[in-house]
Amino acid sequence: MTGIEIIATTSSIGAEIRGIDMATASDEEFQLIQWALLEHHVVFLRGQHLDDEAHEAFARRWGDPIPNPIVAKLEAPVAIGVVYNDAEHPPGQDNEGWHTDHSWASYIPDIAILRSVTAPPNGGDTMWCNIAAAHEALSPALRDFLSELTARHDPGPRFALEMRARMPADVADQLLEAFPGTDHPVIVRHPVTDRPGIFVNPGYTRWINDVTPAESAVLLELLFKAIAHPDHVCRFRWQEGDVAIWDEHATLHRGPNDFAPARRELRRFTVGAAEPSAA
Ligand SMILES: [Fe+2]
Repeated sequence: MTGIEIIATTSSIGAEIRGIDMATASDEEFQLIQWALLEHHVVFLRGQHLDDEAHEAFARRWGDPIPNPIVAKLEAPVAIGVVYNDAEHPPGQDNEGWHTDHSWASYIPDIAILRSVTAPPNGGDTMWCNIAAAHEALSPALRDFLSELTARHDPGPRFALEMRARMPADVADQLLEAFPGTDHPVIVRHPVTDRPGIFVNPGYTRWINDVTPAESAVLLELLFKAIAHPDHVCRFRWQEGDVAIWDEHATLHRGPNDFAPARRELRRFTVGAAEPSAA
């Protein structure tokens, strides 16, 4: 393995891997990508220019691609997810906050592999934060208190509107019934490294259970501030053909709405499905 470089984006999160062609990566190179992901939580491989088949073939080296839980309920589920925006399809105004993908379901993906098909000329970056580093920055007393708590996650106030706008009424009703929201521990344990991390997000977490509404609001505000602290965040500027791979159990991500009305297309496979477990 000569000519491979791993360049950390920050000391807390992110690394660019240079010198590996994902389409032809050897087992040794693949293991290096896996190691780098555990170490850096999100890794970037530029200029890969994969097509859907090569993207899926790479994803399968981690395990079976799992469709989004909503898509999985449809008659013909497809594993690939497409994020597409242009002047007629502007990015959402209220759903782009920090989140773990579909934390409103009982399970979350292990890994997400996202590639850029069309990059906007300006903006359209993606950001990730390190939930274990954010947890470590809290005081031991607060960490102990939070470790006993669970929080409610749901798909959000616009979920019903969106489902009814996009699906036949009976399918929308079934989906609304299937995903009423779920509870997860506020502090979760990483399934491989055992590191504890903060598992609430402004995208999908509604309240913390077993405390008063006022206490929940204050705690969530504090935790949302903790996860978004610039010390634990990295940001990636996409160029066409680039790939980002992230660990859903170690990070949250968000995409600022700063590129409309330009066209942007990203395609994604997620692999694995695990219920977040308490630290
Ligand atoms: Fe996402």
